[in-house]
Amino acid sequence: MMNKIRIGIFGAGRGADIAENLMQMDDCEIVALCDFDEKRRNNAVERLGIDIAVYDNFDSFMEHGLDAVVLANYFHEHTPYAIRCFEKGIHVLSECISNGTMAEGVELIRAFEKSNSIYMLSENYPQMKFNREMKRVCDGGTLGKIIYAEGEYNHPFKPDDHEFNKIAVCFTKHWRNFLPRSYYITHSLAPLMWSTGATPKRVSAMPVYSPVKEEATARRVGDRAAIITTLNDDNSVFRITGCAGFGAHHNSYRICGEKGQIENLRGMGEKVMLRYDDWNIPEGMESVNLYDPKWNDADEEKIENSGHGGGDYIVSRMFLECIKEGRQPEHPYDIHSAVAMSSAAILAHRSVMNGGIPYDIPDFRKEECRKEYENDRQTPFYGTDGSEPNIPCCSNPDYSPTQEQINKMEEILKD
Ligand SMILES: NC(=O)c1ccc[n+]([C@@H]2O[C@H](COP(=O)([O-])OP(=O)(O)OC[C@H]3O[C@@H](n4cnc5c(N)ncnc54)[C@H](O)[C@@H]3O)[C@@H](O)[C@H]2O)c1
Repeated sequence: MMNKIRIGIFGAGRGADIAENLMQMDDCEIVALCDFDEKRRNNAVERLGIDIAVYDNFDSFMEHGLDAVVLANYFHEHTPYAIRCFEKGIHVLSECISNGTMAEGVELIRAFEKSNSIYMLSENYPQMKFNREMKRVCDGGTLGKIIYAEGEYNHPFKPDDHEFNKIAVCFTKHWRNFLPRSYYITHSLAPLMWSTGATPKRVSAMPVYSPVKEEATARRVGDRAAIITTLNDDNSVFRITGCAGFGAHHNSYRICGEKGQIENLRGMGEKVMLRYDDWNIPEGMESVNLYDPKWNDADEEKIENSGHGGGDYIVSRMFLECIKEGRQPEHPYDIHSAVAMSSAAILAHRSVMNGGIPYDIPDFRKEECRKEYENDRQTPFYGTDGSEPNIPCCSNPDYSPTQEQINKMEEILKD
């Protein structure tokens, strides 16, 4: 029998969610957890309820003897740690953007090419029930060639939910306060890439500027969404939002082919609407089909009990399957798709800051693209090493909450 896959968790917030899902599988064990925040570390250990080695720094954690690492540290700081794993042949599951700058995208691909590690983007939204159904229908071919799709990840936050603020934002220079709307792109983009097989080649974006009016906030981004358009390698077009903050939370997706279209209906749970032209109705279907999709999966109960509409369990299972079968994950979970998504996020923000002009998305398999971006370290974020942002995070570079709003948030976070 194969030895159990030994997994380490880096980052005790979201990392604990993934650990819980992995713990349900027989062929792996969570053996170590690393976080430099003691309170977070202790909370995670208590929550997981298992005997586990704990570390407060990545160097010691790496000496534990790991087969795989889940990167759930700060959103924009995954790349250097992924590279450290590659150097030791340790497999990587990265939550949920691969690189925070264009230069890091180049570095990640260069290091990956020298490694035997499996790399997978930990992107759960394509595995939600309605997105799996959309892929099933696209693969069935009845929609014809897919030519257009829309993806919205719309996640407004309740202004006075300070318990949530304390967990999600923690300190005023935290990445969530400086997160351009286009950067958190994978939840709106990856489901479309998964269903259609397309990869963006060109990107442009416009901001929806509408600052929040909370009494207490340290969020430096006054935009509520970035409306991003991509032209893809199969000539299809996507319209996506990054992470939006309109009223009324939803994740919604719509895929249009030459013969019909499918979408999940906003505000109607997991219901999907599948429609065809009268002259293109497949055998046994209607022109308008409104239904609740099924999982069609042996692990249905575990999926139903897992977070993010079941996606968390399925992604964890996919990662283990790749390790056991000794293969890289399929599109768009592979490293090149992951880096293309990060490039789309970063260049969409550049487009926002430059009046909506389009940017080509580089293919870092090609040396000429690597050369073009290898020194491009523009970032809107503070780094753990004390580095400062070198570009604005908001479409209006002069926007900031008032000092009073920031002070109030600092008071809340101190509690
Ligand atoms: N797919 C999803 O649905 C989903 C949901 C939530 C978060 N995420 C992603 O997961 C990642 C983590 O999210 P989060 O909400 O837990 O973020 P967070 O910023 O709250 O937590 C990051 C954790 O990493 C620790 N950390 C950071 N750098 C470290 C270092 N160098 N050494 C040791 N510890 C370090 C921090 O102390 C913190 O506990 C992000 O990339 C986020 O985008 C994905």
